Amino acid sequence: MEEAMKPAELRELAAEILNENDREGRYTIPTKGLYPFQWNWDSCLTALGWTYLDEDRAWREIETLFEHQWSDGMVPHIVFHEPDDGYFPGPEVWSTGRSVPTSGITQPPVAGFVLRRLYQRCADPEEIEERIEDLVDAVDRWHAWFFETRDPQGEGLVSIIHPWEAGRDNSIDWDEAFERVPTEGITDYVRRDTEHANSAHRPTKAQYDRYLWLVEHFRSLGWDNSKLHEASPFQVVDPGFNAILIRSCFDLAALAEELEMDDVAQRNYAWARRGLDALENLWSDPHRQYLCQDRTTGQLIESTSIGGLLAVFAPIRHIRAQAIAQRIEQISAECRFSIPSHDPADVRFDAKRYWRGPVWLIINYMINDGLEAADLEESSTKIVDDSLELIGSSGFAEYYDPKTGEACGGGRFTWTAAMVLEFLQDQ
Ligand code: DGY
Repeated sequence: MEEAMKPAELRELAAEILNENDREGRYTIPTKGLYPFQWNWDSCLTALGWTYLDEDRAWREIETLFEHQWSDGMVPHIVFHEPDDGYFPGPEVWSTGRSVPTSGITQPPVAGFVLRRLYQRCADPEEIEERIEDLVDAVDRWHAWFFETRDPQGEGLVSIIHPWEAGRDNSIDWDEAFERVPTEGITDYVRRDTEHANSAHRPTKAQYDRYLWLVEHFRSLGWDNSKLHEASPFQVVDPGFNAILIRSCFDLAALAEELEMDDVAQRNYAWARRGLDALENLWSDPHRQYLCQDRTTGQLIESTSIGGLLAVFAPIRHIRAQAIAQRIEQISAECRFSIPSHDPADVRFDAKRYWRGPVWLIINYMINDGLEAADLEESSTKIVDDSLELIGSSGFAEYYDPKTGEACGGGRFTWTAAMVLEFLQDQ
């Protein structure tokens, strides 16, 4: 039997990956080849890892991302700092007209949560006060953008208008709503992702056609966010995405309070509380978890994915957090490693295909954090143990087959390394 890796060894390997994927001390790419630019939520979660190596570098990661915030408040999901034709769709497809090109959609807003954590860890809070205040203002503007443009009826929860926004690109959650997205008329394209990763681990061509249709549709509307939500045939309210936003609103509010930025604090507490109330509408008693909602029909989507369990990242009612802990136990019992990104009992589950079954360490991290905050440590211990065991047996992969532990997707993955540093902090 292979001997388990010692924490010091794991830390060293994780640090090596962060340094290897560092670009000019300003931002970190997720992995060489497959993802050669700066991705929004990758970067924010990676900043947590940088705190163990270089505090200043951690702040820089977030500052670099927010230097590319749009004037309407949106923070794009990719910043194309340097040309690299190894990735598709590149800047010419997005065509957002910015001096440093960016994509035109966003990603899970985890920055508010990360900022607070960075501040709690910082050696000399006074020294960075101005720096942090600027970031708090920027994140506040991003939150305001969400509620203005992605919740036009003031329901308290926001929609994603492209699966790439959720980060869970090919989740089973989107299958039905995606049927409504046409593919006629899209420009011919050549995928690059399948040159870097096994195509059986990646989204299908049918899904890519629809991803591209949406991009071309939004581009034809000039990336005008006052129009995109209404114009999108794909509008889904994802409990996981909203839990991240709610948690970030709470954390930003608490941080703003400490910094005596009272307006920001009040606004963000109000968004967070309203969001928590509205999240209740996504709870499904028969499924014992939250579900996504198709905003175009108002119906809940019959798909028991990790998105509905990630809701525990927000301070939901204890009774709900307990039910989620039970669901996690139930779906993990069918796997060797927790937590599968989709319920293995569902016939659509696919152990190796991106977000249709594999384990992701960032999700394990956020769920673990939520369970601990709800005093459900017993449930969270297995998540941390499994996460570290996966690294020992299969390396720092993008994601893992929950049944076998096989490494899937890209290798030497930055946010996986950052999460390992986080998991090791108490060991
Ligand atoms: C990709 O290209 O795989 C990304 O998930 C889109 O951001």
